[in-house]
Amino acid sequence: MTGWLVTGAGGRLARELTALLPTDTTTALTREELDLTDARAVDDALAELRPSVVANCASWTDVDGAEEHEDAALDVNGLAVSRLAAGCARTGARLLHVSTDYVFSGLDAEGLPYDEDAVPDPRTAYGRGKLAGERGVLTALPDNGVVVRTAWLYGAHGRSFVSTMAARALSDATVKVVTDQYGQPTWTRDVAERLLVLGSGPARPGIHHATASGSTSRYELAREIYRLLGRDPALVSPVRGADLGCAAVRPAWSVLGHRRWALEGMSPLPEWRGALREALPAVTASPAFGSALCAS
Ligand SMILES: NC(=O)c1ccc[n+]([C@@H]2O[C@H](COP(=O)([O-])OP(=O)(O)OC[C@H]3O[C@@H](n4cnc5c(N)ncnc54)[C@H](OP(=O)(O)O)[C@@H]3O)[C@@H](O)[C@H]2O)c1
Repeated sequence: MTGWLVTGAGGRLARELTALLPTDTTTALTREELDLTDARAVDDALAELRPSVVANCASWTDVDGAEEHEDAALDVNGLAVSRLAAGCARTGARLLHVSTDYVFSGLDAEGLPYDEDAVPDPRTAYGRGKLAGERGVLTALPDNGVVVRTAWLYGAHGRSFVSTMAARALSDATVKVVTDQYGQPTWTRDVAERLLVLGSGPARPGIHHATASGSTSRYELAREIYRLLGRDPALVSPVRGADLGCAAVRPAWSVLGHRRWALEGMSPLPEWRGALREALPAVTASPAFGSALCAS
């Protein structure tokens, strides 16, 4: 057994991860090349490739769409992940499964980060499906299954809150941004680097929180993006989340704790503000950013 299999390889995080992996021992398969809900195809891929590590970056990520299509979202994020985990158990592969802050209610406003062991309590169809996937991994792979929760991703690939705000900033556009959602803006590169660590060396089974250190509101994040791009943060005006009318409730408090890294002798991911400063040139240079600029 050798090498990595990356699923959902067309996605934002998967592309960042694949770029860090050695090309000769990595197989990165897009949804067209490997549909995670196709049980036979998944079994065949594991049997043929015999990867030592599977990084599951495939996911239904349309949070609002999952409210209307909960069964379809659960198929990808829950049932298919459980089958993938069972397949990894049979072939001996380590599974790194990417999950989300949406497994928590986001209602805990005491200002304490959610511990890795905090009891999940998802309030959205997306969160329920992702929790089912987590449980499938932890049950099938108690010694070789790694759940990596992340949140508020942005990076060089694809659209994100950060790329949208950066496009608005560079157009000197005004924007209304919610003040009552707190989280950890997280650079996909930092998560990808952590996946690399978790896929190498001794197994570190269980739940890890791969989010940036520190926390902020979406409003303050948008203002910071304007500031870093040399634009006037006063163009960002505050609004409350309830006024936006999204189908799925956004967690108000999405701050994850990083106790597990310390137990393993590792520092948590870098602080969000420094990572954002370093990442912004890559965000604004990406082809997806060009389309965000046109759409803004
Ligand atoms: N983005 C965030 O802010 C965020 C926050 C918290 C957690 N996460 C988690 O991080 C992970 C990666 O997210 P991302 O932002 O990179 O998502 P993404 O850009 O939406 O990538 C997900 C990929 O999965 C593919 N996919 C969907 N259904 C599939 C299926 N049945 N079989 C195989 N592939 C399938 C998608 O293909 P199509 O494009 O063809 O549908 C897409 O390429 C996910 O597990 C997500 O839950 C993301």
